Amino acid sequence: METQLWNTSDEDLKEAAAALREGKLVAFPTETVYGLGADTLSERAARKVYLAKGRPSDNPMIVHIHSVSQLSDLTPIVSKAMQVLADDFWPGPLTMVVPKAEKIPYVVTGGLETVGVRLPGSETARKLIEYSGSYIAAPSANLSGSPSPTTANRVVEDMMGRIDGIVMGEACQIGIESTVVDLTGEIPTVLRPGYITVEELSRSLAKIGKEVVLDKHIEESQDIQKLKKMESGKESFADEFKPKSPGMKYKHYAPKAELILMLGDYDQVEDKMEKLKSEYAKKGKKVECILHGDSEEEIELEINTFFERLRKFDEDGIDIILARGHEQRKGKGFAIMNRMLKAASYKLIYVGGDYEDCDSM
Ligand code: TXA
Ligand code: MG
Repeated sequence: METQLWNTSDEDLKEAAAALREGKLVAFPTETVYGLGADTLSERAARKVYLAKGRPSDNPMIVHIHSVSQLSDLTPIVSKAMQVLADDFWPGPLTMVVPKAEKIPYVVTGGLETVGVRLPGSETARKLIEYSGSYIAAPSANLSGSPSPTTANRVVEDMMGRIDGIVMGEACQIGIESTVVDLTGEIPTVLRPGYITVEELSRSLAKIGKEVVLDKHIEESQDIQKLKKMESGKESFADEFKPKSPGMKYKHYAPKAELILMLGDYDQVEDKMEKLKSEYAKKGKKVECILHGDSEEEIELEINTFFERLRKFDEDGIDIILARGHEQRKGKGFAIMNRMLKAASYKLIYVGGDYEDCDSM
C-alpha cells in the first residue's frame, strides 16, 4: 500500500480529511502522542485499524472530537461530571469513558457499551477532525506493543506501507497518552493515569460534590511495597489482576532493548547505574541510562522524552537500558511510572536505603 505524506497546511489537511471520509486510515499528531485515525462511523475503516496496528480487537479506541458540542452526539446524556471535566480540561489530554450512542459501531468500542471520548489540544488534530465532518477513532499510531510515537518520523517508521497516509505535523508537546477516566459508574474512576493527575480531576469534580478514585488494578500494580515482594520481571504480575480498561492487559511500550528500572535515592541509583554499566560493557553489551530526579521539571522532561528515547536507543542498537523509576503515589510521576513499569515488564532493581536487602539482581 502506498502511504501518502501530508503537511499541516489547510489544503493538505482537507485532503487527509477527504481520505478519512472515504474510509481510509490516516495518522495525525495530537498533543499527547500520534494517533492512527479512522472515521468512527465506518465499521470497515475501524476494523482496518486493528489490522494495521496488529492490535487485539477487544481493545477499544478513543474517539476524537473537534468541539465540546460533539460530545452529545456520542453519548445519550451529557452528565454534570462530563460538563465540568470538559470545562476544566478540554481541549486537552483527558479521555472520558461514557455510555455510547447507538451509532458508534462496536468495532470501535471493542464490543463495550461505553466509549472513550477526547477533545485533543492539538490544533492540527482538531482541524483534521472538523474537515472530516465526523469523529475520528484513533489508538496511538505505533505497532501494537512498541513505544508510542511522539514525532511524525516515528509513525513513518511503524506505519509506512500499512496505512493510507500520515499528517507530518508537530512533535507532540506532552509525550505520553491521555488520562482515561471512567464516568459510567457511581464514582469516577481513573483507568489510565496520564498527564492530567488524579488530584487535578479530584479538585475539578469536587465542585459538583463528586470524588474520583484510581482503578484498583493500577493502584495495586504500582504499589511499590508490593512490587518489592514480587519476583522481579515476572510478566505474570500484570496478569494477576483483572483490568477494567482492556488496553491495560497487553504488553505495552516495550523497546527491543532490555529495560530495567532502578528504584531508590537519586545518588545511589546514579552510582549503581555506573557500576552496572561498566559490568555490562565488559560483557560486550551496549548500555544507555535514563536518569531523572523527582522534581516537577525533571518529571516533565521525563514525560516529554521517554518514548522517544526508547525508540532512539533501539535505533542505536542498545542492548540494555537502565532507567530510574519514580515512587511517588501522586502527580505526573505516577503517570510516567505507569508507562515505565509496563515498558520494563516490571523488571526492577532496588538500590540502597530501605531497599538494600531486596536487591534483585
Ligand atoms: O492520548 C491518547 O489517549 C492517545 C491519542 C492518540 O489520543 N490515544 C491512545 O489510544 O493512547 P490507545 O488506543 O493507545 O489507548 C486507549 C486506552 C486503552 O487503554 C483503552 O483500553 C482505553 O483507552 N479505552 C478506550 N475506550 C475505552 C472504554 N470504552 N472503556 C475502557 N477503556 C477504554
Ligand atoms: Mg497505545
